[in-house]
Amino acid sequence: MVERTLVLVKPDGVKRRLIGKVINRFEEKGLKIVALKMLVLSRQKAEHHYAVHKGKPFYEPLVSFITSGPIVAMVLEGESAIDVTRKLMGPTFGFDAPPGTIRGDFSLSRQFNIVHGSDSQKTADYEIPIFFSKEEILSYQTEDEKFFKSD
Ligand code: RTP
Ligand code: MG
Repeated sequence: MVERTLVLVKPDGVKRRLIGKVINRFEEKGLKIVALKMLVLSRQKAEHHYAVHKGKPFYEPLVSFITSGPIVAMVLEGESAIDVTRKLMGPTFGFDAPPGTIRGDFSLSRQFNIVHGSDSQKTADYEIPIFFSKEEILSYQTEDEKFFKSD
């Protein structure tokens, strides 16, 4: 099923000049960027985005970190985009993530793990509007689209 998911390049990814490499992983796989912006997240939006983690020991450091500098936010669209994106990212902690995944190739850390991706359809529906209005999400076709279908 064609899905949309929210991806963030976190402040460590931006400051380590990895924006291009991270975006490239998703593009090469065949996911389509349908919205893209660079921003500094407000504390209010960060708390909303990570509300599911409120009360956990890592919540405050996580909110501080995600608001600590510019991030790149995007909506990716494609076949099974939510699950495919999580697989390309790899497990949460860089030291656990296998080579070939974004976190496996670029991170050794719990917190500085480069990238965020929605973990379910429900989460994607919750997270995308925090970053993008309906008008900012663009529908378009590409010539090579047939190569990126599930059949
Ligand atoms: P994210 O939301 O950032 O894409 O990461 P995720 O789904 O892979 O992981 P999640 O469980 O949602 O956790 C959000 C972020 O909190 C930090 N974290 N620290 N036990 C810990 O110390 C711990 N658990 C999670 C990570 O930085 C993770 O990205
Ligand atoms: Mg998460």
